[in-house]
Amino acid sequence: MRFAVLSLCLAAAPVLAQDAGLGEATFMSACAGCHGEAADGYGPMTEILTVAVPDLTRLAARNGGEFPWLRAVHMVDGTTGLNAHGGPMPVFGTIFEGDTAVADAPDGTPVIMSARVLAVVEYLRSIQVEAE
Ligand code: HEC
Repeated sequence: MRFAVLSLCLAAAPVLAQDAGLGEATFMSACAGCHGEAADGYGPMTEILTVAVPDLTRLAARNGGEFPWLRAVHMVDGTTGLNAHGGPMPVFGTIFEGDTAVADAPDGTPVIMSARVLAVVEYLRSIQVEAE
């Protein structure tokens, strides 16, 4: 019975499930090396990095409880100029080529980015923990 309920849920949200899968897969392949599989800032690469890698499960907690969606998009995409100061975080906007996605920023402004940038940012939003 529990199984039947589960499959019903999955069937009801095929698109969401697919996006979450893309975001998680992208995170594991492109981000977990530095940020860690749990996104807590402790990936294997941190042993050779000279800069601190932030815990990405606390983006909302560090921002007064609100997920800083646009900042995350800009950070990951990196093609907007907001992160053009040679920071240690790699720029993914040009690597994640392919499908283009448009999503509304919190203020309603449409933001154009690659579908993988959107998926990985939505994955991050989904793993936020509450402030302690
Ligand atoms: C080479 C290591 C490395 C990789 C790979 C990497 N990051 Fe980062 N990331 C960092 C570092 C270091 C910082 C903090 C320094 C900075 O702001 O540039 C950071 C900062 C961030 C921030 C901003 C955090 C904040 O507090 O505002 C976000 C969001 C982020 N990364 C997401 C990602 C995502 C998503 C991916 C994969 C698509 C990724 N990172 C891949 C090293 C990395």
